[in-house]
Amino acid sequence: MSQDTYRLINPAGDEMELPVRKGTVGPDVIDVAKLYKTKGVFTYDPGFVSTGSCESDITFIDGEKGVLMYRGYPVEQLAAHSNFIEVSYLLLHGDLPTSAELESFDDTIRTHTMLNEGMLNFFKGFRYDAHPMAMLSAVVGSMSAYYHDEMDSSNPDHRDIFAHRILAKLPTIAAAAHKLNIGQPFMYPRNDLSYAENLLHMLFAVPAEPYEIDPIAAEALDLLFILHADHEQNCSTSTVRMAGSSGANPYSAIAAGISALWGPAHGGANEAVLTMLKEIGDVSQIGKYVEKAKDKNDPFRLMGFGHRVYKNFDPRATIIRDMCHKVLAKLDRKDTPLFDLAQELEQVALKDDYFIEKNLYPNVDFYSGIIYKALGIPTSMFTVMFALGRSVGWTAHWREMISDPAGKIARPRQLYVGAPQRDYKQIEER
Ligand code: CMC
Repeated sequence: MSQDTYRLINPAGDEMELPVRKGTVGPDVIDVAKLYKTKGVFTYDPGFVSTGSCESDITFIDGEKGVLMYRGYPVEQLAAHSNFIEVSYLLLHGDLPTSAELESFDDTIRTHTMLNEGMLNFFKGFRYDAHPMAMLSAVVGSMSAYYHDEMDSSNPDHRDIFAHRILAKLPTIAAAAHKLNIGQPFMYPRNDLSYAENLLHMLFAVPAEPYEIDPIAAEALDLLFILHADHEQNCSTSTVRMAGSSGANPYSAIAAGISALWGPAHGGANEAVLTMLKEIGDVSQIGKYVEKAKDKNDPFRLMGFGHRVYKNFDPRATIIRDMCHKVLAKLDRKDTPLFDLAQELEQVALKDDYFIEKNLYPNVDFYSGIIYKALGIPTSMFTVMFALGRSVGWTAHWREMISDPAGKIARPRQLYVGAPQRDYKQIEER
């Protein structure tokens, strides 16, 4: 094997040199794109655990070392010094903005927050108890109906406007879904407020009285949005890329991403963590539930533990954990027992051989749900909050995918294990 190739040899001695591609940092990649054409075989990798699906310069993760970087900047530095709007600019444009660029971007996002009034009518068609993720996905999908004619994916200006609309309008849609669930009037956005403040206003204000925005709540939300903003080729982002690779309207590709995020193995885990903590109920029950999680015959898993990529710790969980303390201390909420339970569960699992051997550590969702709960956000809205943060990552990846000259429609192959060819039988002969 030379330095830049991998040699594949089959038992008959048939050989093939596969090129090895090197990224800026991170593991090398064996390029198998010509494998089928040359040798007539496919690779097999369910869940894409060893497969890179694209080239990307947006986000880097080192799962072993617990590293997460957006455009080369460590997430810890962004969490400490930046804000969600600046991080969004960074993800979308590749570099940190100058003050003039940031001011102009911030202004643009603030002035795209309103929905077309007709779009609000969609909410009248949902039942009062419709899940907000279902409403978010449906209404974002409907943006493709509103903006189809104005969306030429090959036009960079259209790609910018698409990004601005997604970033600016998703909080308004999310808040409208929440207001429908609780039977309160929809609150129009306020463009004098920051991104997180405006969201709090739309979620919690009512027309009948003034609403005071809690700065700690706004700070916590902004931090969560930064931490959720992107995570390279995760399930929902890959879904957006895959749906978009056919040339589909990008608003519908984002709607597909929202649907993928909803699952409990992905963004739905923050909701599942709270449900699990409530089910455990008391510190005395932790041992029983940890045993259930370890039992191969029991489908129960500790929600908020484990990650496909992070195998030592999730850097986002470390940052969020500190914020969780800050929020609970300053907001003086009554959910401290739940947080105590979460901390105890974390300690028990971290010392347990099963979790140590399998490298199962608390992930970002373990603590984010507790923060959302402390802020008064209902459990069903937790994954929606994740979606708001991740929306900029989805958009950045769609833009990267659509402007890649080497881009192709995503079309995986399979290992067919069904019946070989057989002849159709008339119904009376079966
Ligand atoms: N509790 C108990 N056992 C677990 C857990 C868990 N949370 N997670 C993994 N395992 C075991 C699993 O049974 C398997 O055991 P074995 O090797 O004996 O069959 C082993 O650990 C490897 O698990 P896997 O399912 O093959 O690993 P994966 O990389 O496919 O799955 C995961 C990663 C996140 C889906 C999984 O750890 C999980 O289901 N965690 C709980 C859900 C969760 O918190 N999801 C949020 C992910 S972070 C937010 C995001 O990025 O979306």
